[in-house]
Amino acid sequence: QEKKLWGGRFSESTDAFVEEFTESISFDKELALYDIKGSIAHAKMLGKQGIIPQEDTEKIIKGLQEIEQEIKENKFIWKKEFEDVHMNIEKALTDKIGEAGGKLHTGRSRNDQVITAFRLYLKENTQDIINLLEDLQRKLLEKAKEYIDVVMPAYTHLQRAQPIRAAHYFLAYLEMFQRDKERFIDNLKRIDMLPLGSGAVAGVDFPIDREYVAKELGFSQIMRNSIDATSSRDFALEFLSNCAICMANMSRFSEDMIIYSSSEFSFVELPDKLTTGSSIMPQKKNPDVLELIRGKSGRVYGNLVSLLTVVKGLPLAYNRDLQEDKEPVFDSVKTIKGSIVGITKIVEGAKLNKEKTQLAAGGFALATDLANYLAEKGVPFRQAHHIVGSIVGYLVTQGRELESITWES
Ligand code: ARG
Repeated sequence: QEKKLWGGRFSESTDAFVEEFTESISFDKELALYDIKGSIAHAKMLGKQGIIPQEDTEKIIKGLQEIEQEIKENKFIWKKEFEDVHMNIEKALTDKIGEAGGKLHTGRSRNDQVITAFRLYLKENTQDIINLLEDLQRKLLEKAKEYIDVVMPAYTHLQRAQPIRAAHYFLAYLEMFQRDKERFIDNLKRIDMLPLGSGAVAGVDFPIDREYVAKELGFSQIMRNSIDATSSRDFALEFLSNCAICMANMSRFSEDMIIYSSSEFSFVELPDKLTTGSSIMPQKKNPDVLELIRGKSGRVYGNLVSLLTVVKGLPLAYNRDLQEDKEPVFDSVKTIKGSIVGITKIVEGAKLNKEKTQLAAGGFALATDLANYLAEKGVPFRQAHHIVGSIVGYLVTQGRELESITWES
């Protein structure tokens, strides 16, 4: 068995169970390229500050770039015995360049290293999500324009309420996604901060240059307190919460489309290429994408609750519990990106059945307009409401629609 990077004080090798139980490489390799980016910036700074020789910096950068290439080409072999992404990469670097590799970890701890990579990852993915939401908004606006003259019923309590333009309906979601987007944009301010330079908890003894590292990595702020920097995950909680809210909005849209595309409503025709069939019922055209978005909102809510529970009652500063921050975030990133793409495609491809929506928007959905008409003529609104209510009640017993009334009967 190869020696652990932290193996100095141990006289027994690690129990195989412990190795299996504590590893995170099976999921945190997602951070590999961000970890390398962080290490290159750190190595450059160490060389510039004369903390390590410039030749070593050069060897480190070259070695890391080779490793990056191997990872991109899927040639890099990840080993559970090296626990996590950081130590896998550092071990490979030392194997490659020898002693100089062992200098990379000067003035750094895995505690500030991991959270630097995590923040870089989340910054990039939050920007992706913002862009995807903007795309979706554009498609909603196009739909609203396309159907500006189509009338449909607005519902309250899922009962026909009042007639609206279909554009009014689509633009409601455009507004919701605008707020979702703004929440992600606001979150970026608190993600975009450099923790590196905090060490394990108490800071770093070497004459490091954090402004330089922040600039190299594109962070716009530097975290001031090393205890906070290594142990706070509220930026990720905020992200997970933003994902949960956005999923709730997408789930509502999904539910609308699922109902509207049922034979009972027939307001919406979903494109064939975005629906799936049944293995037994030949007539079926199922809105599985929408159902999955509605269903996946469950896991995204769960991810928020997971991480909230991890940090609750956690004493300052870093504890290994914090390794549990990654899977919920990775899962939410993947789920929300897929869901936004799915909703965008549905918005783009959905066709409204004008005849159906128009028909459903007539009849008793016009009762408020009739009451308003009477109120305009001077009848107190409460009384107008009552009058129209009794007309509706009468017509229902006669099996008649609102349009059928005349001055006579
Ligand atoms: N894999 C760890 C994590 O994800 C990295 C930090 C480990 N630090 C430590 N002192 N064991 O949090």
